Amino acid sequence: MTTATWDQYEDEARRLDAADPLAAVRARFDIPEGILYFDGNSLGPLTHESRRVLHRTIEHEWRERLIRSWDEDWLAMPSRVGDLIAPLIGAAPGTVICADNTSINLHKALMSAVAMRPGRDEIVADVNNFPTDIYIARSVAEQHGMTLTLVKASQIPSAVSSRTAVVTATHVDYRSAHILHADEITAAAHAAGAMVVWDLAHSAGAVPVDLAGLDADLAVGCGYKYLNGGPGAPAFIYAAPRILADATQPLHGWWAHAEPFAFETGFRPAVGIKRFLTGTATVLSMKSLEAALSAFSGVTIDQLRAKSVSLTELFIRMWDEQLQTVGYTLGSPQDPDHRGSHVALGFAGGKQLVADLAGAGIIADFRPPDLVRFGFAPLYNTHLETVQLARKLAELGSAH
Ligand SMILES: Cc1ncc(COP(=O)(O)O)c(C=O)c1O
Repeated sequence: MTTATWDQYEDEARRLDAADPLAAVRARFDIPEGILYFDGNSLGPLTHESRRVLHRTIEHEWRERLIRSWDEDWLAMPSRVGDLIAPLIGAAPGTVICADNTSINLHKALMSAVAMRPGRDEIVADVNNFPTDIYIARSVAEQHGMTLTLVKASQIPSAVSSRTAVVTATHVDYRSAHILHADEITAAAHAAGAMVVWDLAHSAGAVPVDLAGLDADLAVGCGYKYLNGGPGAPAFIYAAPRILADATQPLHGWWAHAEPFAFETGFRPAVGIKRFLTGTATVLSMKSLEAALSAFSGVTIDQLRAKSVSLTELFIRMWDEQLQTVGYTLGSPQDPDHRGSHVALGFAGGKQLVADLAGAGIIADFRPPDLVRFGFAPLYNTHLETVQLARKLAELGSAH
């Protein structure tokens, strides 16, 4: 087998970019000249629409309309933005709401699930989950005198039992990008009578999820990664329609009340997904997220997935042919069916490598002890950028 030259990879990348049905979508983003951005799995870049809408919100809705904007627009935002996110995660309208951050939403979701499984004394979680998920699961377990059982995702189906109230895992592993067998895990949990809470932080906007088809109970996820809502953008929470009437959550803020503006002393939960709200929406951040979600208009989930796979496949081929010989190991699944939208490479001295890349205008991120993560966001990354990234990695690896 002959290995391609960098010029050949670039020619191939140009051909792929020319045939890319999402090529025009990149113009919806304002990525600085000279920057190759491979960190959309941590913070999506600015969209032109977010800038425009934030400006208008500040100058018109806030400065001119003042408090009238709550009735005119802002009160409806959490539901409206939830409904924009819903099709990206296979959820029906009215089952997703935008609120708080992922950690708070996970707390609400787990507390909700535990309350619906009285008498059970265990939470099962993926040991490789993002730390916040484990911390929150542990705090919920401790509050109820329950056991938190941490196992590898592949062991969850055999770990669940009649003791288990709820299982929680992240659909796409934040380090390796491994896509968990959500169907098997959900089915096994349900067969044991337990509920399932999925964290979709590394899925929403890049990797297909079918919450309704999975029959998942609850799910949460971030607004600032592949949804591009901006730093600190609010998160989202999903609850299956079949549980909504019975679902409770412990943060009885006034926005979760059936009639917030009745100012009643007693708490009555809102009908539907609004009961998962807490307090006042973070309007500016939510506006930014809402605007950024328009970048998905006209884009199908199949197109997103095809582009994401095409980018990561090209990168992994270059890893195979060029990068592994200069010290990089593959920290992500080689099979695209099991890989999300980022690729992790192991590299001794990865932290310095990420700094060197940044010095060359290439933004990626580092996760200890030695993983370098590259997010390939299907809305704006190109195949040519992917080759330029690999070429730089080869150069830095050889010099190491
Ligand atoms: C899987 C996962 N869950 C949750 C979070 C963060 O949650 P929060 O919105 O509370 O900061 C992250 C952040 O990177 C994450 O990767």
